[in-house]
Amino acid sequence: MKEKRIAVIPGDGIGIDVTREALAVLSTLGDVTGARLAVQEFDFGAERYLKTGVSLPEGTYEMFQRDFDALFIGALGDPRVPDMAHARDILLGTRFVLDLYANHRPVKLLHDDLCPLKGRGRKDVNFVVFRENTEGSYVGMGGIFKKGTPDEIATQEDINTRKGVERIIEHAFRHAKANGLTKVTMSDKSNALRFGHDLWQRVFAEVSKRYPEIEANHLYIDALALQMVKNPAQFQVVVTCNMFGDIVTDLGAALQGGLGMAASGNINPSGVSMFEPVHGSAPKYAGKNVANPFGAILSAQMMLDHLGFRDEAALVEKAVVAAIESRETPQELGGNLGTREVGEAVSRRIRELGSV
Ligand code: IPM
Ligand code: MN
Repeated sequence: MKEKRIAVIPGDGIGIDVTREALAVLSTLGDVTGARLAVQEFDFGAERYLKTGVSLPEGTYEMFQRDFDALFIGALGDPRVPDMAHARDILLGTRFVLDLYANHRPVKLLHDDLCPLKGRGRKDVNFVVFRENTEGSYVGMGGIFKKGTPDEIATQEDINTRKGVERIIEHAFRHAKANGLTKVTMSDKSNALRFGHDLWQRVFAEVSKRYPEIEANHLYIDALALQMVKNPAQFQVVVTCNMFGDIVTDLGAALQGGLGMAASGNINPSGVSMFEPVHGSAPKYAGKNVANPFGAILSAQMMLDHLGFRDEAALVEKAVVAAIESRETPQELGGNLGTREVGEAVSRRIRELGSV
């Protein structure tokens, strides 16, 4: 296969630590399988923002679209930028400008021991959440009137467009069909949010008719949260709006063993997509060799899969599972390895599994 070009933004805090390991794993994978990836790193993040006052230089998005096949981001956020301006610009900017409308967040438990639910294991926790990623209350429409006075008013608009709702729901059904899955659950709050989420209801009914072989299921978002804990095995594909998707994928991360385990892809099916672990920059742990790199490694694995390196992606997942099974894990998973050593363990497993 043709060489694929990856733009990497390690970002801030532990983003730098975990990205280093994800890249090391990709490099091992290249050695073992011949998968050709050309990686170029960019220093966009708090440091550069504080120095220059610019989050992303003019023309960056165009460059990403022109020169790269995929983007990888570690994490963004730094206490020296208290309003998270650069993180919002880079992360949400990339999602919006590159129109990465499908935030694909797998909730897949890789080892029974990592599950926080009593009596549940790998067979119970294996579904994906598609979070709408370009609209909802994230678009930044609204304002503040009479700021700082007792009469202050703040509005934050929740934008739901027919096009936006339809394409994410369609994406969820398409994913189900392509992967032999039989059920899609749409979650909204149409019992209270009577306009925006009425649109979700109508579009879901419409799109589901195009997929008669797939069960179309609905849960209000509060009920979804409850059911994800009570009986996660009932889910295959969940599709929801931006804000609810943000919240339930943290819950999903907990089901997989914590935020450090959760991977994500920000997908534009006809453009350049971006991959990132779900966790943040955890400044407290930055540079201390304690962060869990599995989320970043699994995000790189999703990127490989997306780029067509199917077997290579499967090998990475096998290597991660093998590492977890032999307790080659960071402290937050009960192991005693550092970030680096976990990365090395995964690389070693790739060499072992890849050469048989
Ligand atoms: C996520 C994060 C972001 C979001 C923040 C950092 C803006 O929580 O990717 O889940 O809300 O989308
Ligand atoms: Mn989040």
